[in-house]
Amino acid sequence: MTFSQPVVKGGVKLISPKTINVLIKEKLAFHRNSKLSVKFETVPLKHPAKKLKDVLNDVLRGSNIDESYAFLNIGQFNANLLSFQRFFLPSDPRRRILYAMKANPEKSVLETFIKKGIDGFDCASWQEIEKVLALGMDAKEIYFNNPIQRRSHLEKAFKAGVSYVTIQSMSGVNRVLDVCKKIDRKDIEIAIRVDIANPDAEIVMSNEFGKYGCDLTKVGQLLKKIKKAGLKPGLAIHLGSQNLNPSSFKKAINQLAQLAKSVNGVSSINLGGGFPVSHRNDDKYFIDDYFGYINEALSKIKSGIFSNDNSEKKIIIEPGRGLSATGVDLLIPVIEIRGEDRIYFASSTFGSFIDHFAHDWEYCFDVYTHDGRTLSKKLKDYKVFGQTCDPRDGFKNPIKLPVDIKEGDFLWMKNAGAYVSSLHNNLNDFEMPKQIVFNTKG
Ligand SMILES: Cc1ncc(COP(=O)(O)O)c(C=O)c1O
Repeated sequence: MTFSQPVVKGGVKLISPKTINVLIKEKLAFHRNSKLSVKFETVPLKHPAKKLKDVLNDVLRGSNIDESYAFLNIGQFNANLLSFQRFFLPSDPRRRILYAMKANPEKSVLETFIKKGIDGFDCASWQEIEKVLALGMDAKEIYFNNPIQRRSHLEKAFKAGVSYVTIQSMSGVNRVLDVCKKIDRKDIEIAIRVDIANPDAEIVMSNEFGKYGCDLTKVGQLLKKIKKAGLKPGLAIHLGSQNLNPSSFKKAINQLAQLAKSVNGVSSINLGGGFPVSHRNDDKYFIDDYFGYINEALSKIKSGIFSNDNSEKKIIIEPGRGLSATGVDLLIPVIEIRGEDRIYFASSTFGSFIDHFAHDWEYCFDVYTHDGRTLSKKLKDYKVFGQTCDPRDGFKNPIKLPVDIKEGDFLWMKNAGAYVSSLHNNLNDFEMPKQIVFNTKG
């Protein structure tokens, strides 16, 4: 399928409102075609003998029906990356779209992104770096962007060829400089992650704990130290995960531009992740809105953001959720309905739903019956509990489900591809949902 091309303005690609509308229509049509619920005509990868439709039917109507399943749709991961590639500075050679692999480090997902031309990976540990190196990723496109890096991990990463790290403090800069000296690397880029508050993110990074980012007033000092040491300085932000405010990027880009100008330019700016996904039924978020603001803000900065030397310049984003959440859906059996309104299901708030425990996230479920009966449209409040021994394993607020839901029916949670398998805890040794990998034709 071919997509419309954005227009060029001021050195970076700026998408006109008219083109955005065309792109949105194309994107929606593309997504509709690759939606799991619309199209079960799939190419199953790990179930060569069966189509997904048949596998799902077996699960829904089978006798051994108390297992949870994760349906991983390679086609949806492809479509997600394609959207980012279309909307973020489509033909600017400085553009880098990294995948924040912490969101979903499943091998088939990493392989898919590599195959479809992801520019690089945002990694948080030596273990993550090793994983993408083993898949053939060029070390120069692996970015070490955790809020804190161990000395030993820095050393292994730099020895392997990684050349970019994000740091947040003077002691962090000193640690990196020590390691560089020890292994004689003079070409490392150190990006300083700036603490820019954004209360509009569902998971706020810049918070009272001060875990993410460096105070604005200290950034200049750190950049100067990096320059003085002969290394390349960069700037980075993360405006929070599930960031619901597209214009927050515009404000942040202008702040970064001012900081960059105050030190005669930097080698890169990294806008982080945070692109939201419509998790709940009435959510309506489109990444197009975000790139409208990002591309426009970048196009208005005429000069001064990048240093005037011949080092390679980069404009980076590193989405995790935005690239992965819609690629997986979960099917979870109801183990028991106790009394009038208590449901125990084959998952837990320490398993696939740990974001409820950590961030008070609420969830919406569709329900599938195991015996083909049609469910009532009438809903009522249920208290839903997980299967582990911990008394806190359950949703704090009631969840609306059909009045005639029965043991053996399934709860279906869409968009469970980000921070679900990677945050899954193994309390009581319960297994992860059984994974079914398939590929819708996009
Ligand atoms: C440094 C860094 N970059 C990118 C991401 C990805 O964020 P998101 O999944 O909200 O896009 C995270 C998430 O924690 C992060 O810590």
